[in-house]
Amino acid sequence: MSIARKASDLFRLAQAIVRQPRLALSLLEAVPYSQRGFNFSRNWQQSDDESRFSYPTMPNRMQEFCDALVEGPGVWKWDHYLDIYNRHLQKFMDREVHVMEVGVYSGGGLRMLRNYFGEQSQLYGVDIEADCKCYANDHTKIFIGDQEDRSFWGDVRKQVPCLDVLIDDGGHEHEQQITTLEEMLPHLSPGGVFICEDIRGDLERFNAFAYGLTSSLSKMTPYQPDGIHTTAFQSNIASIHCYPYVTIIEKANAPIPRFVAPKRGTQWQPFLEGKLMKDLQ
Ligand SMILES: C[S@@+](CC[C@H](N)C(=O)[O-])C[C@H]1O[C@@H](n2cnc3c(N)ncnc32)[C@H](O)[C@@H]1O
Repeated sequence: MSIARKASDLFRLAQAIVRQPRLALSLLEAVPYSQRGFNFSRNWQQSDDESRFSYPTMPNRMQEFCDALVEGPGVWKWDHYLDIYNRHLQKFMDREVHVMEVGVYSGGGLRMLRNYFGEQSQLYGVDIEADCKCYANDHTKIFIGDQEDRSFWGDVRKQVPCLDVLIDDGGHEHEQQITTLEEMLPHLSPGGVFICEDIRGDLERFNAFAYGLTSSLSKMTPYQPDGIHTTAFQSNIASIHCYPYVTIIEKANAPIPRFVAPKRGTQWQPFLEGKLMKDLQ
């Protein structure tokens, strides 16, 4: 790590402690648990067992496209992403879906997405290199700009009023990834899917940012007679998924105003009476 980067990180750390000392202390208290997680994973022993519940693999147009691609505009993806994407994106296939790829490079990714989502899809490509303009066509609009530039995203939002899927395969630096998410996740449609690729390395900063997001999904507010009233974030964000090198965020199909946990059934052991409600308060 360069001295300038180290100095900037230390400056940010000092700022964070001064601005939000209580949050900084809570994060510090979480350090031993993060260390436990690191140590647990590092000491993991390889198991060669296989699942007893293997199921037929789901057909995956993206995989088929990549397997068949031997010439023409190139696609550059980690192979294991294709199965993950199919899991989160198949609901959009063959529908009028608006999809953005950040990082166009040689145009093959956009072709793969068009093949996957079908004829009704509208694609948007974003790249810092003006040469990528050549991939514009009747179903693909190309924006040239820097994904770390917030005003660039302001312009993009004006020109793309509806967006269902965003795949960030751009510069892969954490400031670029975080800025893109901050600017575009709120703009995604309900039910939309945000994918950030290529988060790699121990203690990656994007992962630290994502920890703030996942932690916020677990936030508890006092239990009300009609349940727990969700925060705006909990109401709109359905889930956050962490895979090797890739994080996926799914937006809720509709706002989730409350979390409720009704006790169903009539027969209950007495030993937890009162305790569960106390835990919720
Ligand atoms: C890994 S390639 C994308 C690969 C492509 N998605 C595919 O599937 O083959 C990364 C692309 O991100 C672009 N890029 C790098 N930094 C960027 C930035 N700050 N803003 C926008 N695009 C950027 C590069 O010009 C390059 O075309």
